[in-house]
Amino acid sequence: MAFALKKRDYLLIGIAVVILAFLWQAPPESTSRVPYDDDHQRFYDIVKADGKKAAEKFCEDCHNNDAVPFPEGHPSKYRCLFCHKMDRP
Ligand code: HEC
Ligand code: HEC
Repeated sequence: MAFALKKRDYLLIGIAVVILAFLWQAPPESTSRVPYDDDHQRFYDIVKADGKKAAEKFCEDCHNNDAVPFPEGHPSKYRCLFCHKMDRP
């Protein structure tokens, strides 16, 4: 009986360690968020009403080499909102 309890304790500790290790490893979410400002506010409504894909169609109206250029080495521009989260729900 005592042995069985001990074994379960070790198991629980083991599970806790695995969970902690997993949380520790998860990278911090670092990609900049879509600001909630005059330029971007309307997209919050579009995302809510029609989804991310509908909103993304407009990003490159401003985010292009002429208006608001991307930082150097910016990754694939496909699906902005897959990487850039909205700043609020
Ligand atoms: C009307 C023009 C315009 C449109 C459309 C637009 N943006 Fe922007 N965006 C800007 C400008 C200007 C800035 C830089 C100033 C700022 O931070 O607001 C910017 C900055 C950003 C930033 C960086 C914020 C930071 O923390 O530095 C992200 C991310 C971004 N936009 C994502 C998007 C996405 C995704 C879309 C499409 C859903 C979009 N933008 C559509 C004008 C626009
Ligand atoms: C594959 C992921 C990914 C996709 C897709 C993506 N980005 Fe980015 N973007 C990044 C990363 C990573 C950075 C650099 C780190 C940061 O500043 O967030 C960045 C930086 C930016 C910046 C500069 C942010 C700043 O703080 O100066 C803007 C603006 C931006 N992205 C807009 C867009 C727009 C608009 C789209 C869609 C046309 C898009 N991104 C698609 C990952 C992505």
